[in-house]
Amino acid sequence: MTAFSFATVPSLIVDYGSARRVGELLRERYRATRLVLVTDRFLNESGLLRPALQSLANAGWQVNVIDDVVADPPDHVVLDAAARARASGAEVVLGLGGGSSMDVAKLIAVLCASSQSLDAMYGVGKVEGPRLPLVLMPTTAGTGSEVTAISIVTTGATTKSGVVSPVLYADLAILDAELTLGLPAQATAATGIDAMVHAIEAYTSARLKNPLSDMLSKEALRLLYPNLLRACRDGGNRQAREAMLLGATLAGQAFSNAPVAAVHALAYPLGGHFHVPHGLSNALVLMHVLRFNAPHASSRYAELAETLGCEFAAQAGTDEKAYAFIDAMEALVVATGIPRTLREVGVAAADLPMLAGDAMKQQRLLVNNPREMTEQSALDIYRAAL
Ligand SMILES: NC(=O)c1ccc[n+]([C@@H]2O[C@H](COP(=O)([O-])OP(=O)(O)OC[C@H]3O[C@@H](n4cnc5c(N)ncnc54)[C@H](O)[C@@H]3O)[C@@H](O)[C@H]2O)c1
Ligand SMILES: [Fe+2]
Repeated sequence: MTAFSFATVPSLIVDYGSARRVGELLRERYRATRLVLVTDRFLNESGLLRPALQSLANAGWQVNVIDDVVADPPDHVVLDAAARARASGAEVVLGLGGGSSMDVAKLIAVLCASSQSLDAMYGVGKVEGPRLPLVLMPTTAGTGSEVTAISIVTTGATTKSGVVSPVLYADLAILDAELTLGLPAQATAATGIDAMVHAIEAYTSARLKNPLSDMLSKEALRLLYPNLLRACRDGGNRQAREAMLLGATLAGQAFSNAPVAAVHALAYPLGGHFHVPHGLSNALVLMHVLRFNAPHASSRYAELAETLGCEFAAQAGTDEKAYAFIDAMEALVVATGIPRTLREVGVAAADLPMLAGDAMKQQRLLVNNPREMTEQSALDIYRAAL
């Protein structure tokens, strides 16, 4: 067997309604009193956090809410938020929101306890630590950030940079699917497809693919594939929401160890330049990258066709099964009704060479792709996606 290593968060609570008890859950673990809750303004003002805030107050926590996280958080937002958290004497960090809020919470936990600069943390394995105790609660079933060792920050005007380090594994992740009931259909679709892409790219990762990530990816797809449309069409469907949230977390555990690849590399410039939400930018390039990869990943895709329960003739060969998988993914994306083309999100043909050039900067991800991606192939994929 090929040697491998695998890491994940040490504790996970999966419990519907647990945000209503988060104060006690944290009290059982920590003696501290000053907690910083990291979220975004919409979530804070929407009232979604009210039961959690009530529970924290009841359990004696002094809570400082930092709610200026924005989607695809820029570095100055992270630094400002960290300075305020430090000034408030934060002892515990709770990230409660989508991937953007959880990613910022991770970095705040480090920046509050360590003298290392954020600039020195970009890349793989650069974070020195220590960090404050860190608890993460997702409100989207998408990024899996609650169980990944990754934070994605927008640096400069448009570049998405990753901080990847075991120091970023939270101490505790809490999954409360009740928090996701109100997520609108389009956001449910986009974030759910992000989660599926994590599972697919982990399963086909050219580096660090391992049996535990494989198992998690397949189970994630078994949960996500049949429940995505159910969650989009009936947001209040508790079972579908629970399956989506657990599926996204399992996919996060998978790709935190068997990293994602070209779908993400080509998606990031769309977020950086056109502010396309992360999940949607993945969905826009997904089908084209799968078709590009197919000649080099057909047996993996064929295995995933079996996982999704695709139907094919008894004598179907590997290629036929691989294309059954790609077709099933395409049918799912189409059925969600989210935008299908780059044009629909404001991209013009003249932008494509710049996007392809930018995608090439994501070598951290491209090295994991099952097929080598040149700038020309990236351009061809963007053209097909236009
Ligand atoms: N750390 C990782 O491992 C990892 C992995 C993939 C992506 N990311 C990053 O995560 C970010 C994307 O995160 P995301 O897709 O979760 O979106 P997000 O956190 O940017 O949130 C998107 C929008 O959805 C809203 N929202 C969130 N939860 C809601 C709810 N329950 N009900 C109603 N509205 C809700 C938010 O207020 C926000 O307006 C990107 O910056 C991406 O690069 C990180
Ligand atoms: Fe992602």
